Amino acid sequence: MAFKYQELAEQVSTSIEKNQFAAGTPLPPLRKFADQHKVSLATANKTYEWLQSQGLIVVKPQSGFYVKGQRSIPQLSQPKVQSVSIDHDPSDAIFDILQNALSLDRVGLSNGYLDESLRPSLALQRAIKRTAKRANLTANSYGLTQGEPKLRQAIVDVMALRQCPVNANQILITNGCLEAVNLVIQQVSQERDTVAIFTPCYSGLLTALKNSHRKVLEIPCGVNGPDMQHLAELFAQKAFKTLIFSAIATNPLGFSLTKKQKQQLGTLAKRHQTYIIEDDTFGSLGYQQNATPAYAQEHNEYVIYCSSFSKDIAPNMRIGWIISPSLMPALKRRKLALNISCNMPCQLAMADYLLTESYTSQVRKLTFTLQQQMVQLQNCVLEHFPEGTKISQPEGGFFLWVELAKHVNTMSLYQLAVDENLCFMPGYTFSMSGHYDHCLRLSVNQLWNDKLAKAVAQLGKLAYQIQTPKHD
Ligand SMILES: Cc1ncc(COP(=O)(O)O)c(C=O)c1O
Repeated sequence: MAFKYQELAEQVSTSIEKNQFAAGTPLPPLRKFADQHKVSLATANKTYEWLQSQGLIVVKPQSGFYVKGQRSIPQLSQPKVQSVSIDHDPSDAIFDILQNALSLDRVGLSNGYLDESLRPSLALQRAIKRTAKRANLTANSYGLTQGEPKLRQAIVDVMALRQCPVNANQILITNGCLEAVNLVIQQVSQERDTVAIFTPCYSGLLTALKNSHRKVLEIPCGVNGPDMQHLAELFAQKAFKTLIFSAIATNPLGFSLTKKQKQQLGTLAKRHQTYIIEDDTFGSLGYQQNATPAYAQEHNEYVIYCSSFSKDIAPNMRIGWIISPSLMPALKRRKLALNISCNMPCQLAMADYLLTESYTSQVRKLTFTLQQQMVQLQNCVLEHFPEGTKISQPEGGFFLWVELAKHVNTMSLYQLAVDENLCFMPGYTFSMSGHYDHCLRLSVNQLWNDKLAKAVAQLGKLAYQIQTPKHD
């Protein structure tokens, strides 16, 4: 369960977002608000504090609380409705930048995983200790290729909450979501086949496709995802062998697909007998409560679901999974050939964590915190980056996409930033088309703090320098 103040804050913020409360509307005084909602004064206070931190309400001394109205956020540019095939290969740059992130990024703006302070580290430690006591882990066998039955059963419960009814036999455990997606790509396509992706796209997928000698068709996405009509035409033309997509909190743009878009994707896959691979790594981190994956809308045999616990609780345990009843026998054989099975101690500990600790409430609190941090990051970017900078309006996760003036090359900005021990992910690493070289991705994977704020301000200063070079 979420804290009561979170529920109340969400109710009020939804009303503000839907313009049910116009800017300037007074809110009830704290005591009255507490009485109306039958909560303590402390809870009412926390609710108003949260709304203030989101910039949704203001306090006027001696007067009370007022609705500030929605923040106006400069929207990202709409992309051209035109898909492009692979052009350049950013894999070397991606590799170097990811290594830099591990050694140089002292602030965390480039990180693709949650900071430890937001992960349930103690609960996971407890689970690891409990499992270690119960079993002689070193004496265990490889374990089943399909994965530890207890873990699969626990994932059945996780999926039920996400409105995806599955049974344990339909789940294959993998080393994270990237292995899951890679196994499915190998299964449903061959070398030189074309694989379609939503662009800008998570760099790990680009390198995976490059390594497996697939051709890439980039489908440009705007703030609301892809143009569905264009996508339907591509399906009809058999322009790709398979499509990889995310329906919730897409990395890096942060959009989530609508229920209709999710349904359409499943229907198109079935109609054209084309496999689609749903990468739901960020699925549990949608800000909207109970956001469901595309698989929940339409789970025909052509929709293959992949996910992991890497983004919400434990990137280091490398536990992911695939759901595909029809491809399960073939995928199990592929997994056996690749690496036999997944690490048993980690599988047992994860199963124990899911069955005995409070995964659902952890994730619920986490998404609430992330939403709050995101607003802080957005405000900070808008304050410190050059005028005209556009930013995304993420619907989940911890990434913010930033679009600078067209002539700014964020790889050059990156070089300047690294000299000052600051890292971010340049737009170059999210596409093979070169269309996002003036963009960048920032992470807010931790509680907002002065160090982060200073780093963003410093990046903004460097962006100014590079956008308006001095002339002698
Ligand atoms: C969209 C997406 N899919 C998959 C992955 C990789 O997931 P895992 O760490 O579980 O392999 C990432 C990691 O950043 C991601 O952003």
